[in-house]
Amino acid sequence: MAIILDGKKLRDKIFGELKLKLDKMPQKPTLAVILAGDNPASQIYVNNKKKTAENLGINSIVIKYPSTVSEKELLDKINELNDDKSVTAILVQLPLPEHIDKFKIIDAILPEKDVDGLTPYNSGKLFTGEKPYVYPCTPKGILLLLDEYNIEIEGKHVVVIGRSNLVGKPVAQMMLNRNATVTTCHSKTKNLINITKTADILISAVGKIVVGEKYIKNNCVVIDVGIFKDESGKIRGDVDFENVSKSASYISPVPGGIGPMTIASLMVNTVELFKVESGKCKVES
Ligand code: GUN
Repeated sequence: MAIILDGKKLRDKIFGELKLKLDKMPQKPTLAVILAGDNPASQIYVNNKKKTAENLGINSIVIKYPSTVSEKELLDKINELNDDKSVTAILVQLPLPEHIDKFKIIDAILPEKDVDGLTPYNSGKLFTGEKPYVYPCTPKGILLLLDEYNIEIEGKHVVVIGRSNLVGKPVAQMMLNRNATVTTCHSKTKNLINITKTADILISAVGKIVVGEKYIKNNCVVIDVGIFKDESGKIRGDVDFENVSKSASYISPVPGGIGPMTIASLMVNTVELFKVESGKCKVES
C-alpha cells in the first residue's frame, strides 16, 4: 500500500514557520488578488486565499470585476497596483473571461510583484535555469511535498500529463532543472498508457479521471493535481486512488494533497516577494 503524501500536514508546518516570521516583521506584505467574472470555483479559491493570508498576518485585498470587464480596466488596475508601494504581490485569478487576452494581462504585472511566477520574465528565468523571483505555486508545492518525503528526483523518469502554463509546463521544467528525465503528455499524445507505465514519478494535471491501475508501474510515485466534482458532487482527482494506491509507493490524495500545497506556496511566495520589494525589512530565510 502506498504512503500518503500529506499536503495538509506539510501546509500546516509551513504556515507555522511563516507565522513566526511574519509576527517578527514590523511591516507586513500585501497580496492583491484580481477576480474577473463569476466562475464559482475561482470565487471559492479567492476567498480561501484571502482568509488564509489574513490568518497568517498578511494584508489582503480582493478586487472584483463583472465578466463584462474590459481589458483596459484590468490593465489600468494592474498599473495602479504596480505603482502602489504598499502592494507587494499581485495575483490575477485564472481563468479570465474569454474576451480578455490573458497573456496581455499577465505580462502587465511587474515581475517583482508576480506572485504566481507567470510573467515572461519569471517563466523565462525558470526555463533558462536561472532564479526567478518566485516559482509558480502548484509546481513549487509539488516539489516541496516530494522533498519533504525525501523522494529522489535526479535521474528519475518524470511523466507529466497536462501542458498548461500554470502546472504542466513549469513543473516539467522544474523537474528538468532537478536533473530528471521528463516526458510531457497531453490530449494528443498517442498510447498514453505505454508512456505512463515507464514513469518513476507520474504527475497528472488534467481535471478528469485519467489514471487507473493499469497506467502505472509498481512503486511509482503518483501526484494528483486534478480537482473537480463528479456527478454525485464528490471532490475527485485525476487518479483512481483506491486502486492505484495498491501498487504506487507514494500517492497524493484529493483533497488533502496538492491543493493545500498550492496555497502554502502562494503564501511563501508572498513573503519572498515582500523581501524583494521592501529591501528594508530583514527576514531570515
Ligand atoms: N486558477 C487556478 N489555479 C490558479 C493559480 O495557481 N493561480 C492563478 N492565478 N489562477 C489560478
